[in-house]
Amino acid sequence: MVYRVGVVGCGAVAKAHAKSLAKLDNVTVVGFADIRPERSAEFAAEYGGNAYASLNELLEKEELDVLHICTPHALHVPMALKAAEKGINVFTEKPAAVNEEQMDALLEAAKKVKVGVCFQNHYNDNSRYVEQELKSGRAGKILGARAFVTWKRLAPYYTESGWRGTRELECGGVLINQAIHTLDLLRSFIGDPKAVEAKTSNHHLKSVIEVEDTVEAYIQFEDCAASFYATTAYCQDAPIMLELICENKSYRIEGADLYIKEKDAPRFTAINFAEKEAFGKGYWGTGHLACIRNYYASLSGEEEYLVTLPEVDKTMRLMFAIYRSAEENRPIELC
Ligand SMILES: NC(=O)c1ccc[n+]([C@@H]2O[C@H](COP(=O)([O-])OP(=O)(O)OC[C@H]3O[C@@H](n4cnc5c(N)ncnc54)[C@H](O)[C@@H]3O)[C@@H](O)[C@H]2O)c1
Repeated sequence: MVYRVGVVGCGAVAKAHAKSLAKLDNVTVVGFADIRPERSAEFAAEYGGNAYASLNELLEKEELDVLHICTPHALHVPMALKAAEKGINVFTEKPAAVNEEQMDALLEAAKKVKVGVCFQNHYNDNSRYVEQELKSGRAGKILGARAFVTWKRLAPYYTESGWRGTRELECGGVLINQAIHTLDLLRSFIGDPKAVEAKTSNHHLKSVIEVEDTVEAYIQFEDCAASFYATTAYCQDAPIMLELICENKSYRIEGADLYIKEKDAPRFTAINFAEKEAFGKGYWGTGHLACIRNYYASLSGEEEYLVTLPEVDKTMRLMFAIYRSAEENRPIELC
C-alpha cells in the first residue's frame, strides 16, 4: 500500500518531515497546509502535492491516510482530533499534548486511529545502546541520574515566530519545547516516576517571553532519584548530557556520543558510532527519518512503533507535574 499523506504547518521542522517522507517508497505526499499560504506553496513546489491555506481545506480536498502535524503546540491535539474523526492516522510533533485534558482526548482518539508522536531521539544509536544495556540487566539497578539541556535562545527566536514564548500557543518554555526530548529519554530509561519537586524561572528573557527560560526538577523514581536541569540562557547549543549511574556500569550520553564506565574503572570511555545524515538542526539529532520510517512500518504491521503512546503519556504526565510543582511550590506525587 502507498499511504496518502498531508502535512499541516510548513515551518522549520516540517522540512525534516518532508525530507524523511521523500525517502520512503510506501508514501506519497499529496498536500501541505499552512495559514501562511506562501509557505505551503513553497513546500508543494519543492516536495510535490498541492498547497492549501488551512487544515480544513486540506482535509476537504484530499483523501488522506496520514496527517503529519508540525504546528504550534496548542494546536496539535485539536488537529489530531479533526483527523481522527475522519479516520485519518496521525503523526504529530512533540509535545503530544499541552495539558491533561488534551492528553486524555488524544489517548481516546488513538483507539480509532494510529497516533505516533515524534520523539526521534529514541532512534539515536546511543539511546538504543543504553536501552538495550538496561534491558539486558548488565548494568544492574540505576542508582542515580542527572540530565542537562543548555541551549542558546535569543529574543528573535521568540519574537519572530508569532507563537513561541506565549502561554496560549507554546504553553510553556524550555521544558515543553527544548528539553522535553531529554526528559522523555531520562524517564523511559528509569521507569515510572513517583514524585517531583520543581522550580521554573525566567532569567534572561523577562520582557520577551511569558514562559520559563529555566527549569530545575528533582524526580523520584522507585529506586533512585534524578536531577534534571534545562535552560535556554546558555552561550551555545551545547550537546545535551544525560548520565545514569548504575550498580555495575555507568552511561553518559552527550549529544550523539556515548561514554561508558565499568564500576571500578577510573574514567568513562567513548563508544564510536557511524556518522548519520541529519535533516534539520544538529541538536535535533538524526532520528527523524528512522522515527517516521518506523511509524509507517507500524501502520503496515511490519514493525511495532518504538515510541508507544502509553510511554509518551507517562512523560507528558511527568511534564505536567513539573509545571504544577513549580506553580504551586510543592512536591507533586504521580501514581
Ligand atoms: N522533534 C523535534 O526535534 C522538533 C524540532 C523543532 C520543532 N519541533 C516541533 O514542531 C512544531 C513546529 O515547530 P517549528 O519550529 O517548525 O515552528 P515554525 O514556526 O517554524 O512552523 C510552524 C508553522 O505552523 C504554521 N501554522 C500556525 N498555525 C497554523 C494553523 N492553524 N494551521 C496551519 N498552519 C499553522 C505557521 O504558519 C508555521 O509555518 C512544534 O510543535 C515544535 O515543538 C520539533
